[in-house]
Amino acid sequence: MKQLNPILFILIIFSQVSFSQVREVKELDTNWKFQKGNSEQAFQINFDDSNWETVTVPHDWAIYGPFDKEVDKQNVAIVQNGEEVATEKTGRTGALPHVGTAWYRNTFALPQYEKGKKIILLFEGAMSEPQVYLNGKKVGEWAYGYSYFYFDVSGFIQEGENTLAVQVSNKEFASRWYPGAGLYRKVSVIVKNNESIDQWGTYITTPFINNDVAKVNIKTKVTGENSELVTTIYNAEGEKVAVEKANLQFGNEFEQNVKVDNPKRWSPEHPYLYTAKTQLFVGETLKDEISTQFGIRSIKYEANKGFSLNGKVRKFKGVCLHHDLGPLGTAVNKAALRRQLTILKDMGCDAIRSSHNMPSLEQLELCDEMGFMFLAESFDEWAKPKVENGYNRFFEAYAEKDIVNLVHATRNHPSIVMWSSGNEVPDQWGAEGVKRAKWLQDIFHREDPTRPVTVGMDQVKATLASGFGALLDIPGLNYRVHLYNEAFENFPQGFILGSETASTVSSRGIYKFPVVQAKMKQYDDFQSSSYDLEYCSWSNVPDDDFVLQDDKLWVIGEFVWTGFDYLGEPTPYDESWPSRSSYFGISDLAGLPKDRFYLYRSRWNTTDETLHILPHWNWEGREGETTPVFVYTNYNSAELFVNGKSMGIETKNHSSPQNRYRLMWMDVKYEPGTLKVVAFDKQGKAIAEKKVHTGGKPYKIVLDPDLKIIKADGKDLSYVTVSVVDKKGIPCPTATNQLKFKVRGNGTFRAACNGDATSLELFHLPTMKLFSGKLVVIVQSTDEEGTIELTVTAKGLKSSKVVITSTK
Ligand code: GAL
Repeated sequence: MKQLNPILFILIIFSQVSFSQVREVKELDTNWKFQKGNSEQAFQINFDDSNWETVTVPHDWAIYGPFDKEVDKQNVAIVQNGEEVATEKTGRTGALPHVGTAWYRNTFALPQYEKGKKIILLFEGAMSEPQVYLNGKKVGEWAYGYSYFYFDVSGFIQEGENTLAVQVSNKEFASRWYPGAGLYRKVSVIVKNNESIDQWGTYITTPFINNDVAKVNIKTKVTGENSELVTTIYNAEGEKVAVEKANLQFGNEFEQNVKVDNPKRWSPEHPYLYTAKTQLFVGETLKDEISTQFGIRSIKYEANKGFSLNGKVRKFKGVCLHHDLGPLGTAVNKAALRRQLTILKDMGCDAIRSSHNMPSLEQLELCDEMGFMFLAESFDEWAKPKVENGYNRFFEAYAEKDIVNLVHATRNHPSIVMWSSGNEVPDQWGAEGVKRAKWLQDIFHREDPTRPVTVGMDQVKATLASGFGALLDIPGLNYRVHLYNEAFENFPQGFILGSETASTVSSRGIYKFPVVQAKMKQYDDFQSSSYDLEYCSWSNVPDDDFVLQDDKLWVIGEFVWTGFDYLGEPTPYDESWPSRSSYFGISDLAGLPKDRFYLYRSRWNTTDETLHILPHWNWEGREGETTPVFVYTNYNSAELFVNGKSMGIETKNHSSPQNRYRLMWMDVKYEPGTLKVVAFDKQGKAIAEKKVHTGGKPYKIVLDPDLKIIKADGKDLSYVTVSVVDKKGIPCPTATNQLKFKVRGNGTFRAACNGDATSLELFHLPTMKLFSGKLVVIVQSTDEEGTIELTVTAKGLKSSKVVITSTK
């Protein structure tokens, strides 16, 4: 065994003993008092909040509803959708009561506090325009609801009890989607020594990597002089791989170059993470210590070659995500985010775009760990408005601060491979906009020279003419497949990113006839067809993007709009009520995959078989009518049988984008029974088979939890998919039974969701109708370990029960 250097040995022992003494991080999550409405005196210490509601933070006050079309009724022309005449719109922001002012109050003690300590109050997001008071005095304020921000509150803290009061207010017409409301991300207090590592003061990059060695560059900003910084790097197995000491401090910054031998590179396929432990000493005394996860990886964007990660060219198989978590609203929950990423991983997705704002830190941690590349976006508006009370009100005063905080708080995440300074900003028009694009990009470059910047552009012609697109590191096109060639030829970068693609609309399990491609198609039931052929006036079907991705070397990937349905923006039904959530998702609002999931999976998941048949085969009343059958598969050809009769062999071919990526039998006549598809390998040998049967009457409820064991931490979740089957166990894909949920034991019923964009049933009530035969019930652990029992019942159906275990 190698001898331990005695000084280091002492340091290690010392640091273990004193770790908790040098820095205390206290998450303020429980025992918040909450009240909607404006209470003039609520910032004062002695204010009586005893009759206020007690809530936990993260919290979203608006998700509990009720849905109400009056909440966001608006008479507008949505200019970016190409509208010229104003019409009445509802549901744009989810029709949930998010507008207004509210107060949060929390009383906390800091046992580690003593005079001379530095106290940081950190918010990872507050929706919106937070005004922060501590012990009766105003500490500060922020504006943008998606920003991370902090205040040094050392001068406000006192020994014993401290009272924090936060006012948040949402204006109407401030968002194009459901923004959520309140303290929807973490709030914490950090107690540290005055001589300490600055908040977000660590900046780790890996400027040199080969198979033998990596140079890990660590810049650390500190408060205090004559100090020494010791950085220890651990590999993913927890083994120490390098130690570096520095006592040369330039201003308030240390810079270290640490050698890591035989580096393991981070990638979506191998998300290998290292940890840097940074310790600050003054003399022999340990003053501060933090740990930062990072990855060793290289990124490059090159003309005519595109994007490469660790020297290998690849294209982004990405999705855009809004920040809401469907039935949980915007209150951030790591288990819910992990589930989303698990579903996306199975689809073969390898990249996420946080549209159109800063992602939660939890999401970035998960992307680092699970292996997703990340396009971190900042704004949906600059100085010119899309919505009356949008970010345009804050742009001048806050844009730089917001970007600085975004970069500083997140730059050590290996998952982030690109920044975005904006999405379809109206500033794409005019000379001022060109200047703003340059100004914002320069701020990103100044704060992080290692990553490029994009903007999602929809005004391609305008940005070609003005120079707006030419100055960006990465020209991102939103839709506009017909302009990709022109953009590539005229922009100087030599590649194009599909920063937003598809915007195909569909409702899970709903199919419309005749089966034809259509723009802005509407039906009486306010649903869209799941044959995946309907899209918006500005968008297209997935296959049109696939053609560009496959045929043009210079297209560096796509981010599909969107991975999951989200609250608000119910296009094409924003003039119809009820409809309150989007139809764009590859999976629905409950996270249940729509058919489109399998279309993307058949391309993106290159290791597992995909063989998916649509539609369902329960078409009572359509006997003898033309009912096309599509198969989404990674195989090139297949034969379809209806009740044993062959409908012929279909083979993917280049006669149209759809024929290239889907197998389609357009003339099938419906008869109840069994659809069977047999897929062939390249040699024409039958290799896989799938069947869909006509289901009978709903008979029994079936429960299928995604996790049978969860953590007893009061936050973890199990998502239980509920469906019904007939007497023979065949699924009933059109069932709409009203179900009831009961949770017993060491867990609670958190929410339910059926993915129906027109449903006005509330997510947090323990009853809901099935939509297309399915819904999801979310069960949450308590702090007590034990078992959680979910029972689902319905009139006339055999009920069902599932037991989930929660452990410490
Ligand atoms: C884009 C926009 C997105 C969303 C989408 C719907 O133009 O960037 O935020 O509105 O359209 O298709």
